Amino acid sequence: MKILVIGSGGREHALVWKLAQSPHATQMWCAPGNAGIAQERLAKNNSAVECVNLSADDLPKLLAFAQEKKIELTVVGPDNPLALGIVDLFQQNGLRIWGPNQKAAQFESSKVFSQNFMEKYGIPTAAAGTFSDPVAAKKFTATLGGKCVVKADGLALGKGVLMCANQAEAEKAVDEILVGKAFGAAGARVVIQEFLEGIEVSLHALCDGKTAKNFPTSQDHKRALDGDLGLNTGGMGTYSPTPFMTDAELADAARKILEPFMRGCAAEQINFCGILYPGVMLTKAGPKILEFNARFGDPETQVYLTRLENDLVELLDASVNGTLDKIELKWKPAASVCVVMASGGYPGNYAKGKIISGLDDAAKLPDVKIFHAGTANSGDEIVTNGGRVLGVTALGKDLRAAQAAAYAAVEKIKFEGAHFRRDIAAKAFEIES
Ligand code: AMP
Ligand code: GLY
Repeated sequence: MKILVIGSGGREHALVWKLAQSPHATQMWCAPGNAGIAQERLAKNNSAVECVNLSADDLPKLLAFAQEKKIELTVVGPDNPLALGIVDLFQQNGLRIWGPNQKAAQFESSKVFSQNFMEKYGIPTAAAGTFSDPVAAKKFTATLGGKCVVKADGLALGKGVLMCANQAEAEKAVDEILVGKAFGAAGARVVIQEFLEGIEVSLHALCDGKTAKNFPTSQDHKRALDGDLGLNTGGMGTYSPTPFMTDAELADAARKILEPFMRGCAAEQINFCGILYPGVMLTKAGPKILEFNARFGDPETQVYLTRLENDLVELLDASVNGTLDKIELKWKPAASVCVVMASGGYPGNYAKGKIISGLDDAAKLPDVKIFHAGTANSGDEIVTNGGRVLGVTALGKDLRAAQAAAYAAVEKIKFEGAHFRRDIAAKAFEIES
């Protein structure tokens, strides 16, 4: 099967790496890819994965490329092409593509849509209201005592969520989004949620429109600095499984989320084919959904795919074909930890083009896989080319072993200004003691 993967981050490197292991994969491209993706080879015939210099948002050029190469399965990584309707466009042109169509991608591209859907179909979520009028919005935040989270409706590069501790902060947040238009049209409406306390986990479920198959739990570390301090980032590291939910609790949460989700999709004629990734707060009153994403998490994918036993081509194919009910997901009992190495200054301004050394030495360590995110080739060197640069991922018999293996690999990798958190997975050990 000829496969095209769209995107250029650590998530896409993990997808390419796992798809390349499948005997079904005969030729693979990635648009635009990165330096690590360009090093991958297919298990079946040792052919190299080819990176093509097309932006993940350039739908007409991606379509023309897929038609020219007679791609048999396109796999979409990031949210933006999904929100732009890449799946609809490819399908209208008779091409097979994996991911939610534009209507289904609204679960991520519109927080108002998701909040209304959750309320209508009884999916556990935060108490919330939706507003376009700042006066009404501020009245509502006052009913929450000002302690709330104000969210721009649309996609805002992960920056459209403002956490407020009191009414003054809430009013400022409302003004920033609805009056100051800090996020442009994405902030024409806001969802305001009560502030939920608890432990946050990531869930993922692979869906085919009729069936949803739940993954184990994972946890991201969104703040830039150890101890969950500093600015919010795209994610500084993940691990799976987490100790915060027993198998029975996870199954119960999946039932309470996925059953009404599938029922609601059927009622609203939404064909959700792809990954549903709910961000979940484990509150004293049970799990509550903060938001839905309609794609694989980054860096959740790096820990999930290193644990996944199934052939990923077969899984995504079944998701497109509507035959997921015939497949059982299988996971290695091993734990996985991914430590993100970022450019100095990220998530603010950072330099690019710093030479990365030690990659080969680190890759030789057992059970380690280095996923590239913001990297590029420059002559014979691999250089930094983004905020999140690498996702150094390791498997271990348990989380402590996986964490030790991941950090042993991180220690071998150097680039000027490299920054990483030293406490990825540490929260899991707090509840042991
Ligand atoms: P979102 O993009 O909606 O997931 O929000 C980004 C981050 O903000 C989440 O990962 C949480 O850490 C935090 N957050 C979002 N909604 C809430 C809420 N209702 N209560 C507490 N924290 C929240
Ligand atoms: N792990 C954060 C995200 O993918 O949105």
